[in-house]
Formats: sequence, structure tokens, C-alpha cells
Amino acid sequence: ESYDMGGHDTYMHKEISEQPDAVDRVLRGRIDDRFSTVHLGGLNLDAREARTIRRIKILGCGTSYHAGLIGAGLIEELARIPADAEPASEFRYRNPVVDPDTLYIAVSQSGETYDVLAAVQELKRKGARVLGVVNVVGSAIARETDGGVYVHAGPEVCVVSTKCFTNTVTAFALLALHLGRIRDLSVADGKRIIEGLRRLPGQIQEILKQEDEIKKLAKRYADAKSMMFIGRVRGYPVALEASLKLKEISYIHAEAYPASELKHGPLALIEPSLPTVAIIPDDDLLEKNRAALEEIKARSGQILAVAHQEQEKADHTIVVPKNETELDSILMGIPLQIFAYHTALALGRDIDKPRNLAKSVTVE
Ligand code: AGP
Repeated sequence: ESYDMGGHDTYMHKEISEQPDAVDRVLRGRIDDRFSTVHLGGLNLDAREARTIRRIKILGCGTSYHAGLIGAGLIEELARIPADAEPASEFRYRNPVVDPDTLYIAVSQSGETYDVLAAVQELKRKGARVLGVVNVVGSAIARETDGGVYVHAGPEVCVVSTKCFTNTVTAFALLALHLGRIRDLSVADGKRIIEGLRRLPGQIQEILKQEDEIKKLAKRYADAKSMMFIGRVRGYPVALEASLKLKEISYIHAEAYPASELKHGPLALIEPSLPTVAIIPDDDLLEKNRAALEEIKARSGQILAVAHQEQEKADHTIVVPKNETELDSILMGIPLQIFAYHTALALGRDIDKPRNLAKSVTVE
């Protein structure tokens, strides 16, 4: 992959369409079918050390923080290690308790984001072990961390991150699988996840083929003054990331909420002029999510669902291919990258260089 626009009108469009190849790259050479696990050469964490980890804390900013939220979920599901993610920019200012049994993971596309770098330096000063999940090889965060996983998304030029988000989340799935297989994850589950990972590039290709349909939807919703994004558990970080994408390039105000929190306040906002984008995977929470759609419909809110099957209560559904439940969040954000892109295009925004933003924030 190069810095050439390659026939696309924008880098964002190019980078969205590169995702099947990018995901293929993050998987390449890492899967070990014999033991239903993965090899992560640069991790610098042997199996004995990995078994002593009591907790994992993931730190990043913006899109990388959202990828970290999905990563924490994957680590809890596959490796059964308590994990959470926090914006590095908050972590570094709150005098955090640095725990020797916690593994810290810094996430960054550029590897140069100052808030993340400062959090890593503070952690190292206090004796913590810090790994990196980074895209740019040899970047400051890659150098400061004790080891890690390169996400191999290739150069990302557009200010808003797309392919690097998808690759970072996939890299977390690899890490979670690796940690799971040296702890409690069975051979059968390891094999199931590996097969799911291998299906990702083809499934992303299928999503990309829906661009024309998604473009029509984007035009329909482009007049909205504000949009609500909801998801539950695995779907919530997807909602956060999709709302950030829309804000960054279309300048439409967007809120992301856990679907379960609607009734605790934001339901008061629902009315015909506030469309809701609902992330509804076919998982054990499907019925609960459908109940949230009913609540929105009862208040005449418009609904665009991203789901594995048509949603009766939704005005429109973007149907995405089903993978293993643990991996669904990797795919569900992709149609919403395309949605944000075409919304911004319909509004005549400068997609690759949104106002007020820089590709990497290397200052305080
Ligand atoms: C992504 O669309 C954003 N422009 C922004 O949130 C970005 O993810 C954040 O600044 C972190 O950057 P990094 O991944 O290079 O550390």
C-alpha cells in the first residue's frame, strides 16, 4: 500500500476499501493451526509471565481508545482476564494506582500521541510492564513499550482513522486468543475463533459491496441536526466509534449511549427529528436490543439498524455478515464508516482534513 490515492477521490475512501487486505496482513504469519493459537513475535511476554497477569488496562485516545474498549471485551471473553480501557488523556492526570500484577497496553495508530506517550512514560517510571498495540513501526510509543503487537494497517493518511481501527481490533482478537490459549480457552474454541478471523477479509469485502445502498441511506439522514448511536456490551464501543466518525467528518452532533441506559435519561431526547443508529448483533442480547427499538419507535424516532438480519422495528437495516459472536464488533463498525463518509460527502465537507483536527496530536 502506498501514499498514492489509487483512483479514489479521498484517502478515507481508499483506506476504507483497503480493509480486506489490511486485515489479511495483521493475520498473516501469525496463526498456528496445529495448536489453535497465534504467535505474536514481538510480545516479549512468555507464557509463565502471561499466566500471572491479574488484570489488563488498555490506554489510548479517540478511535484507538474505542478499539481498546473492544479489545478489553475480547480479552475478558477469550482469556477471562479482567480488562478495561480508559482514555490515556484521563489516566495520566488522575494519579492512578499502578499495580504490579496489571499488564498495561498502550494503543496508537501513529505511535506519537502525546497523551498516550506520557501515560506510558509515567507507567514505566513506576515499574509497570507496558505493551504497545501500534501501527507505525519504530514510532515513539513502539520504542517506549516493552513489546507488543504491530497492527500492520499500512499508511493511514486521512485524519479520521478507519482501517487502523479495524486492524487494531483484529490485533486485540489475536492477543486475546493467544492469552486465552495459554490459560483456559479450549482447542475447539481456539479453532472456532481462528476460522472466524480467516472469514473477516471476505466478509469485509461483502460489506464494501453495499456502498451504493449505504450512500442512499446517508443522503436520507444527512439533514439531521443530531444523531443518537446505541449498542449494548459488544455493540456499545461500535456505537461510540461510529458516532465519533460521524462527528469528525460531517460535523453533525452525535451521542453514543449504551442501549441499556436509554431509559435512564436520553430517551427524553427521542422524537422524529433525532434519528437513532442501533447496533444489533445476533447475540444473547438481541431481544433486549429489540425492546430498545420498540421504546424508540413508541416515541416516533427514526431507526437505522446495523444488524445480522432485517429489524422489523427499524426504518432501515444494514445487514452485515455474521461471524463468531466474539468477533462481530470487528465488522459492525465498517458500514458506519461508509455511512459517515457519504454523509460528509453529501454535506460537502473536506473529508480528509476535517476542521480543527490533526492526524496525530503530539502536543499536550
Ligand atoms: C480518529 O478518527 C481520530 N482522528 C483520533 O481520535 C485519533 O484516533 C486519536 O487522536 C488517537 O490517535 P493515535 O491512534 O494516532 O494515537
